[in-house]
Amino acid sequence: MTSVLITGANRGLGLEFVRQYAAAGARVFAACRTPADADALSAIAAGANGRVTLHPLDVTDDTSVQALKAVLKGHPLDIVIANAGSYGGDHQTWRDMDYSAWLDLFATNTLSVLRIASIVHDGLAAGTGKRFIAITSGMGSNADKGGGQLAYRTSKAAVNKLVSTLAQDWRSDGIIAVPVSPGWVRTDMGGPGAPLSPEQSIGAMRAAIDRLTPADSGKLIDYDGSPQRW
Ligand SMILES: NC(=O)c1ccc[n+]([C@@H]2O[C@H](COP(=O)([O-])OP(=O)(O)OC[C@H]3O[C@@H](n4cnc5c(N)ncnc54)[C@H](OP(=O)(O)O)[C@@H]3O)[C@@H](O)[C@H]2O)c1
Repeated sequence: MTSVLITGANRGLGLEFVRQYAAAGARVFAACRTPADADALSAIAAGANGRVTLHPLDVTDDTSVQALKAVLKGHPLDIVIANAGSYGGDHQTWRDMDYSAWLDLFATNTLSVLRIASIVHDGLAAGTGKRFIAITSGMGSNADKGGGQLAYRTSKAAVNKLVSTLAQDWRSDGIIAVPVSPGWVRTDMGGPGAPLSPEQSIGAMRAAIDRLTPADSGKLIDYDGSPQRW
């Protein structure tokens, strides 16, 4: 049975990852800040015969991350999706940057990815899927010519470099590490005007994740598996 860990599992893309992997019969470790308030996630778990379990996780808090590590100990993992993230607040332009908030956003979007990677390495090495996926954003790519939102863009560009470096560090362990852009999707973050539904984005990402080979490790890909510019 495929074993999957998903962060930010209570809403948006993370919730849809849980829904689809659970429907496909996977064993899902679903991590979110406040499981007691995660009604939609709890409903999925209730219908999954014990294959979906909820775990508290604040990806910026080392104590919380280490508690999850203890839960995962001894469980091989096939796929890890480091999905939790934030768009940050206002004041992200060259004129009005909130530097303190920028650091906080790096903690949430970038440092958290290494925190999670560090606790899942052994589980991935013991699993058969061996896939570490960080959800990045097209806004972190140089192909995107938009301006503003500097904190978010730089946090995701840094995730790309972090994961492509992990790909090198983990190559000898056979673990594939890839940053994947989900496209622009209708979630709380993406808003109602986004062109993709969560079902479309996650369906395409799951297929792209399945197709990954060791030769893809360290590449930056779009939700449909096509290469994305750095
Ligand atoms: N939607 C898009 O169009 C789009 C496009 C490009 C990239 N992305 C990326 O896709 C990922 C998911 O985005 P989304 O659209 O699903 O956003 P969303 O609907 O705003 O959901 C964000 C998720 O991240 C969680 N989260 C935030 N900070 C956290 C923390 N410190 N610890 C644990 N969980 C935390 C949230 O938990 P709470 O409910 O507790 O806040 C929530 O589950 C993000 O990395 C985002 O940058 C999204």
